[in-house]
Amino acid sequence: QAPKLTSHYELMDWAAKFFQLQLRKHPSRQAVIDYIKQRGLDGDTVKRFGIGFAPDGWDNLQSQHKHNPSGLATLTECGMLIAKEGGGRSYDRFRDRLMFPIRDRRGRVVAFGGRVLGDGTPKYLNSPETPIFHKGRELYGLYELKQHQRNPQRILVVEGYMDVVALAQHGIPYAVASLGTSTTSDQMQLLLRTSSQIICCYDGDNAGREAAWRAMETALPHLRDGVQLKFMFLPDGEDPDSLVRQQGQQAFEALVDDATPLSDYLFTTMLKQADLSSQEGKSKLATNMVPLLNQIPEGLLKESLFSQLERS
Ligand code: CTP
Ligand code: MN
Ligand code: MN
Ligand code: MN
Ligand code: MN
Repeated sequence: QAPKLTSHYELMDWAAKFFQLQLRKHPSRQAVIDYIKQRGLDGDTVKRFGIGFAPDGWDNLQSQHKHNPSGLATLTECGMLIAKEGGGRSYDRFRDRLMFPIRDRRGRVVAFGGRVLGDGTPKYLNSPETPIFHKGRELYGLYELKQHQRNPQRILVVEGYMDVVALAQHGIPYAVASLGTSTTSDQMQLLLRTSSQIICCYDGDNAGREAAWRAMETALPHLRDGVQLKFMFLPDGEDPDSLVRQQGQQAFEALVDDATPLSDYLFTTMLKQADLSSQEGKSKLATNMVPLLNQIPEGLLKESLFSQLERS
Protein backbone atom coordinates (compact mmCIF):
# COMPACT_ATOMS: atom_id res chain seq x y z
CA GLN A 1 0.00 0.00 0.00
CA ALA A 2 1.17 3.47 -0.90
CA PRO A 3 1.16 6.30 1.64
CA LYS A 4 -1.90 8.58 1.63
CA LEU A 5 -0.93 10.97 -1.11
CA THR A 6 -3.42 13.57 -2.22
CA SER A 7 -2.07 16.08 -4.72
CA HIS A 8 -1.90 15.48 -8.44
CA TYR A 9 1.85 16.03 -8.52
CA GLU A 10 2.51 13.70 -5.57
CA LEU A 11 0.47 10.93 -7.12
CA MET A 12 2.09 11.27 -10.55
CA ASP A 13 5.51 11.22 -8.94
CA TRP A 14 4.50 8.14 -7.00
CA ALA A 15 3.23 6.47 -10.20
CA ALA A 16 6.54 7.15 -11.98
CA LYS A 17 8.42 5.55 -9.10
CA PHE A 18 5.99 2.63 -9.04
CA PHE A 19 6.65 1.96 -12.76
CA GLN A 20 10.41 2.23 -12.20
CA LEU A 21 10.18 -0.29 -9.37
CA GLN A 22 8.28 -2.73 -11.59
CA LEU A 23 11.16 -2.61 -14.04
CA ARG A 24 13.47 -3.80 -11.26
CA LYS A 25 11.16 -6.18 -9.40
CA HIS A 26 8.20 -7.42 -11.40
CA PRO A 27 8.23 -11.15 -12.29
CA SER A 28 7.68 -10.36 -15.99
CA ARG A 29 10.35 -7.65 -16.18
CA GLN A 30 12.73 -9.77 -18.30
CA ALA A 31 10.66 -9.34 -21.46
CA VAL A 32 10.71 -5.58 -20.90
CA ILE A 33 14.44 -5.52 -20.31
CA ASP A 34 14.91 -7.51 -23.52
CA TYR A 35 12.78 -4.98 -25.38
CA ILE A 36 14.79 -2.07 -23.93
CA LYS A 37 18.02 -3.76 -25.02
CA GLN A 38 16.64 -4.50 -28.44
CA ARG A 39 15.90 -0.76 -28.78
CA GLY A 40 19.51 -0.13 -27.89
CA LEU A 41 18.95 1.73 -24.62
CA ASP A 42 21.37 1.36 -21.74
CA GLY A 43 20.74 1.50 -17.99
CA ASP A 44 21.98 5.08 -17.61
CA THR A 45 19.55 6.32 -20.23
CA VAL A 46 16.66 4.43 -18.65
CA LYS A 47 17.54 6.03 -15.33
CA ARG A 48 18.10 9.52 -16.70
CA PHE A 49 14.64 9.58 -18.28
CA GLY A 50 12.96 7.68 -15.46
CA ILE A 51 11.66 5.03 -17.85
CA GLY A 52 9.54 2.35 -16.19
CA PHE A 53 7.17 -0.54 -16.77
CA ALA A 54 3.40 -0.72 -16.32
CA PRO A 55 2.70 -4.43 -15.85
CA ASP A 56 -0.27 -6.20 -17.38
CA GLY A 57 -3.40 -6.16 -15.24
CA TRP A 58 -6.39 -3.92 -14.51
CA ASP A 59 -5.57 -2.72 -11.02
CA ASN A 60 -1.84 -2.69 -10.36
CA LEU A 61 -1.93 1.02 -9.69
CA GLN A 62 -5.27 1.38 -7.99
CA SER A 63 -4.84 -1.57 -5.63
CA GLN A 64 -2.04 0.44 -3.99
CA HIS A 65 -4.55 3.12 -2.95
CA LYS A 66 -7.50 1.01 -1.77
CA HIS A 67 -7.84 2.91 1.48
CA ASN A 68 -7.34 6.33 -0.05
CA PRO A 69 -10.51 7.32 -1.93
CA SER A 70 -9.37 10.86 -2.57
CA GLY A 71 -6.10 9.51 -3.95
CA LEU A 72 -8.06 7.27 -6.31
CA ALA A 73 -10.17 10.24 -7.40
CA THR A 74 -7.03 12.24 -8.09
CA LEU A 75 -5.42 9.39 -10.04
CA THR A 76 -8.57 9.33 -12.14
CA GLU A 77 -8.33 13.09 -12.75
CA CYS A 78 -4.72 12.53 -13.77
CA GLY A 79 -5.84 10.00 -16.37
CA MET A 80 -4.05 7.11 -14.69
CA LEU A 81 -7.32 5.32 -13.87
CA ILE A 82 -10.32 5.14 -16.14
CA ALA A 83 -13.71 5.29 -14.45
CA LYS A 84 -16.21 2.89 -15.93
CA GLU A 85 -19.45 4.52 -16.99
CA GLY A 86 -22.33 4.00 -14.62
CA GLY A 87 -20.11 3.97 -11.54
CA GLY A 88 -18.59 0.53 -12.03
CA ARG A 89 -15.02 -0.22 -10.97
CA SER A 90 -12.19 1.82 -12.39
CA TYR A 91 -9.25 0.28 -14.18
CA ASP A 92 -5.63 1.21 -14.89
CA ARG A 93 -5.12 3.06 -18.17
CA PHE A 94 -1.58 1.82 -18.79
CA ARG A 95 -1.12 -1.94 -18.98
CA ASP A 96 1.85 -3.92 -20.23
CA ARG A 97 3.69 -0.89 -21.60
CA LEU A 98 7.07 0.75 -21.42
CA MET A 99 6.47 4.02 -19.59
CA PHE A 100 8.03 7.39 -20.38
CA PRO A 101 7.29 10.02 -17.72
CA ILE A 102 6.70 13.50 -19.12
CA ARG A 103 8.02 16.23 -16.84
CA ASP A 104 7.08 19.87 -16.80
CA ARG A 105 9.75 22.55 -16.74
CA ARG A 106 10.07 22.28 -12.97
CA GLY A 107 10.72 18.55 -13.24
CA ARG A 108 7.34 17.42 -11.96
CA VAL A 109 5.83 14.36 -13.63
CA VAL A 110 2.62 15.52 -15.29
CA ALA A 111 1.86 12.76 -17.79
CA PHE A 112 3.08 9.52 -19.34
CA GLY A 113 3.57 8.04 -22.75
CA GLY A 114 3.33 4.27 -22.78
CA ARG A 115 4.76 2.17 -25.60
CA VAL A 116 3.48 -1.27 -26.41
CA LEU A 117 6.26 -3.88 -26.06
CA GLY A 118 6.41 -4.93 -29.68
CA ASP A 119 3.85 -4.59 -32.44
CA GLY A 120 0.43 -4.00 -30.84
CA THR A 121 -1.85 -0.98 -31.24
CA PRO A 122 -2.01 1.74 -30.32
CA LYS A 123 1.78 1.92 -30.48
CA TYR A 124 1.77 4.76 -27.97
CA LEU A 125 -0.86 5.48 -25.39
CA ASN A 126 -0.60 8.93 -23.85
CA SER A 127 -2.11 10.64 -20.85
CA PRO A 128 -5.19 12.68 -21.74
CA GLU A 129 -5.42 16.41 -21.01
CA THR A 130 -5.69 16.79 -17.24
CA PRO A 131 -5.64 19.64 -14.70
CA ILE A 132 -1.82 19.41 -14.70
CA PHE A 133 -1.14 18.34 -18.31
CA HIS A 134 -1.79 20.40 -21.40
CA LYS A 135 -0.18 18.47 -24.19
CA GLY A 136 0.29 21.40 -26.52
CA ARG A 137 2.31 23.29 -23.91
CA GLU A 138 4.81 20.65 -22.82
CA LEU A 139 7.91 19.43 -24.61
CA TYR A 140 9.18 15.96 -23.79
CA GLY A 141 12.82 16.08 -22.72
CA LEU A 142 13.05 19.82 -22.07
CA TYR A 143 13.53 19.39 -18.33
CA GLU A 144 16.18 16.70 -18.88
CA LEU A 145 17.92 18.94 -21.43
CA LYS A 146 18.02 21.91 -19.05
CA GLN A 147 19.61 19.70 -16.41
CA HIS A 148 22.49 19.27 -18.87
CA GLN A 149 22.65 22.67 -20.51
CA ARG A 150 21.21 25.74 -18.81
CA ASN A 151 21.34 27.77 -22.00
CA PRO A 152 21.29 25.37 -24.94
CA GLN A 153 22.90 26.87 -28.07
CA ARG A 154 20.56 24.87 -30.23
CA ILE A 155 17.59 22.57 -29.77
CA LEU A 156 16.40 19.81 -32.06
CA VAL A 157 12.67 19.29 -32.23
CA VAL A 158 11.83 15.67 -32.98
CA GLU A 159 8.59 13.69 -33.08
CA GLY A 160 9.00 10.91 -30.59
CA TYR A 161 10.06 9.82 -27.14
CA MET A 162 12.50 7.27 -28.55
CA ASP A 163 14.14 9.94 -30.69
CA VAL A 164 14.87 12.15 -27.68
CA VAL A 165 16.11 9.27 -25.58
CA ALA A 166 18.30 7.67 -28.28
CA LEU A 167 19.86 11.02 -29.21
CA ALA A 168 20.68 11.74 -25.55
CA GLN A 169 22.31 8.35 -25.20
CA HIS A 170 24.44 9.09 -28.27
CA GLY A 171 25.78 12.32 -26.86
CA ILE A 172 23.13 14.64 -28.30
CA PRO A 173 21.24 15.79 -25.20
CA TYR A 174 19.61 18.82 -26.86
CA ALA A 175 16.53 17.22 -28.43
CA VAL A 176 12.94 17.58 -27.30
CA ALA A 177 9.76 16.01 -28.66
CA SER A 178 6.57 17.87 -29.42
CA LEU A 179 4.36 14.92 -28.38
CA GLY A 180 2.69 14.32 -31.70
CA THR A 181 3.60 15.36 -35.23
CA SER A 182 2.64 19.01 -35.14
CA THR A 183 4.46 21.52 -33.02
CA THR A 184 2.01 23.99 -31.49
CA SER A 185 2.36 27.75 -31.31
CA ASP A 186 2.87 27.58 -27.52
CA GLN A 187 5.61 24.99 -27.97
CA MET A 188 7.27 27.05 -30.70
CA GLN A 189 7.26 30.19 -28.55
CA LEU A 190 8.71 28.27 -25.62
CA LEU A 191 11.42 26.84 -27.86
CA LEU A 192 12.35 30.24 -29.29
CA ARG A 193 12.58 31.65 -25.76
CA THR A 194 14.81 28.79 -24.64
CA SER A 195 17.36 28.81 -27.45
CA SER A 196 18.22 31.08 -30.35
CA GLN A 197 18.54 28.18 -32.79
CA ILE A 198 15.70 25.71 -33.28
CA ILE A 199 16.12 22.85 -35.71
CA CYS A 200 13.07 20.85 -36.75
CA CYS A 201 14.08 17.25 -37.34
CA TYR A 202 11.00 15.23 -38.11
CA ASP A 203 10.73 11.72 -39.51
CA GLY A 204 11.72 11.02 -43.11
CA ASP A 205 8.19 10.37 -44.31
CA ASN A 206 5.29 12.40 -45.68
CA ALA A 207 3.88 13.10 -42.24
CA GLY A 208 7.27 14.43 -41.15
CA ARG A 209 7.68 16.62 -44.21
CA GLU A 210 4.20 18.04 -43.76
CA ALA A 211 4.94 18.67 -40.09
CA ALA A 212 8.02 20.68 -41.10
CA TRP A 213 5.97 23.01 -43.28
CA ARG A 214 3.36 23.47 -40.55
CA ALA A 215 6.07 24.15 -37.97
CA MET A 216 7.50 26.83 -40.27
CA GLU A 217 4.09 28.47 -40.60
CA THR A 218 3.57 28.29 -36.85
CA ALA A 219 6.94 29.88 -36.16
CA LEU A 220 6.69 32.84 -38.56
CA PRO A 221 4.97 35.28 -36.15
CA HIS A 222 7.63 34.57 -33.52
CA LEU A 223 10.77 34.93 -35.62
CA ARG A 224 12.25 38.04 -34.08
CA ASP A 225 15.74 38.99 -35.25
CA GLY A 226 18.44 36.94 -33.60
CA VAL A 227 16.58 33.63 -33.60
CA GLN A 228 17.12 31.01 -36.26
CA LEU A 229 14.80 28.29 -37.45
CA LYS A 230 16.27 25.44 -39.47
CA PHE A 231 15.16 22.12 -40.90
CA MET A 232 16.70 18.69 -41.25
CA PHE A 233 15.25 16.28 -43.76
CA LEU A 234 16.05 12.66 -43.00
CA PRO A 235 16.37 9.90 -45.58
CA ASP A 236 13.12 8.11 -46.38
CA GLY A 237 12.04 5.71 -43.68
CA GLU A 238 14.49 7.01 -41.07
CA ASP A 239 13.85 8.90 -37.88
CA PRO A 240 16.41 10.49 -35.53
CA ASP A 241 16.51 7.35 -33.39
CA SER A 242 17.22 4.97 -36.28
CA LEU A 243 19.68 7.39 -37.90
CA VAL A 244 21.80 8.13 -34.84
CA ARG A 245 22.04 4.43 -34.01
CA GLN A 246 23.14 3.68 -37.58
CA GLN A 247 25.52 6.58 -38.08
CA GLY A 248 26.63 7.69 -34.63
CA GLN A 249 27.00 11.08 -33.02
CA GLN A 250 29.55 12.64 -35.36
CA ALA A 251 27.73 11.89 -38.59
CA PHE A 252 24.42 12.93 -37.08
CA GLU A 253 25.81 16.21 -35.80
CA ALA A 254 27.33 16.89 -39.21
CA LEU A 255 23.76 16.72 -40.54
CA VAL A 256 22.63 19.09 -37.78
CA ASP A 257 25.38 21.54 -38.75
CA ASP A 258 24.13 21.33 -42.36
CA ALA A 259 20.47 21.92 -41.54
CA THR A 260 18.53 24.00 -44.08
CA PRO A 261 17.87 27.61 -43.01
CA LEU A 262 14.29 28.85 -43.08
CA SER A 263 14.91 31.12 -46.08
CA ASP A 264 16.27 28.27 -48.25
CA TYR A 265 13.48 25.96 -47.22
CA LEU A 266 10.82 28.54 -47.89
CA PHE A 267 12.12 29.64 -51.30
CA THR A 268 13.08 26.18 -52.54
CA THR A 269 9.66 24.80 -51.67
CA MET A 270 7.78 27.73 -53.17
CA LEU A 271 9.94 27.87 -56.31
CA LYS A 272 9.30 24.20 -56.97
CA GLN A 273 5.61 25.02 -57.26
CA ALA A 274 6.04 28.10 -59.42
CA ASP A 275 6.95 28.54 -63.07
CA LEU A 276 9.16 31.61 -63.12
CA SER A 277 9.51 31.69 -66.92
CA SER A 278 6.13 33.35 -67.18
CA GLN A 279 4.81 36.56 -65.67
CA GLU A 280 1.80 34.64 -64.31
CA GLY A 281 4.13 32.24 -62.52
CA LYS A 282 6.07 35.09 -60.96
CA SER A 283 3.00 36.83 -59.70
CA LYS A 284 1.64 33.54 -58.35
CA LEU A 285 4.85 33.11 -56.36
CA ALA A 286 4.41 36.56 -54.89
CA THR A 287 0.74 35.90 -54.12
CA ASN A 288 1.68 32.82 -52.15
CA MET A 289 4.71 34.29 -50.41
CA VAL A 290 3.54 37.72 -49.32
CA PRO A 291 0.97 36.52 -46.77
CA LEU A 292 3.60 34.23 -45.23
CA LEU A 293 6.33 36.87 -45.06
CA ASN A 294 3.91 39.44 -43.68
CA GLN A 295 3.52 37.35 -40.55
CA ILE A 296 7.17 37.79 -39.62
CA PRO A 297 7.77 40.59 -37.08
CA GLU A 298 9.31 43.77 -38.48
CA GLY A 299 13.07 43.40 -38.74
CA LEU A 300 16.05 42.31 -40.80
CA LEU A 301 14.81 38.79 -41.47
CA LYS A 302 11.56 40.08 -42.92
CA GLU A 303 13.35 42.70 -45.03
CA SER A 304 15.84 40.24 -46.45
CA LEU A 305 13.16 37.70 -47.33
CA PHE A 306 11.14 40.37 -49.10
CA SER A 307 14.16 41.48 -51.08
CA GLN A 308 14.93 37.87 -51.97
CA LEU A 309 11.36 37.59 -53.27
CA GLU A 310 11.80 40.71 -55.39
CA ARG A 311 14.98 39.32 -56.91
CA SER A 312 13.43 35.96 -57.84
N1 CTP B 1 2.43 8.90 -31.33
C1 CTP B 1 1.35 8.74 -30.50
N2 CTP B 1 0.46 7.71 -30.71
C2 CTP B 1 0.64 6.85 -31.73
C3 CTP B 1 1.74 7.00 -32.60
C4 CTP B 1 2.63 8.05 -32.37
O1 CTP B 1 1.19 9.49 -29.56
N3 CTP B 1 -0.23 5.87 -31.90
C5 CTP B 1 3.37 10.00 -31.05
C6 CTP B 1 4.40 9.53 -30.05
O2 CTP B 1 4.79 10.64 -29.26
C7 CTP B 1 5.52 9.06 -30.95
C8 CTP B 1 5.46 10.12 -32.05
O3 CTP B 1 4.09 10.39 -32.21
O4 CTP B 1 6.74 9.01 -30.26
C9 CTP B 1 6.09 9.73 -33.34
O5 CTP B 1 5.42 8.61 -33.91
P1 CTP B 1 6.20 7.48 -34.70
O6 CTP B 1 7.24 8.08 -35.57
O7 CTP B 1 5.20 6.59 -35.34
O8 CTP B 1 6.82 6.65 -33.53
P2 CTP B 1 8.31 6.54 -32.99
O9 CTP B 1 8.54 7.64 -32.00
O10 CTP B 1 9.27 6.45 -34.12
O11 CTP B 1 8.19 5.19 -32.19
P3 CTP B 1 9.06 3.88 -32.19
O12 CTP B 1 10.44 4.21 -32.65
O13 CTP B 1 8.98 3.42 -30.78
O14 CTP B 1 8.37 2.93 -33.13
MN1 MN C 1 -5.75 21.99 -21.91
MN1 MN D 1 6.57 8.89 -38.27
MN1 MN E 1 11.14 5.44 -34.21
MN1 MN F 1 9.39 7.92 -35.72
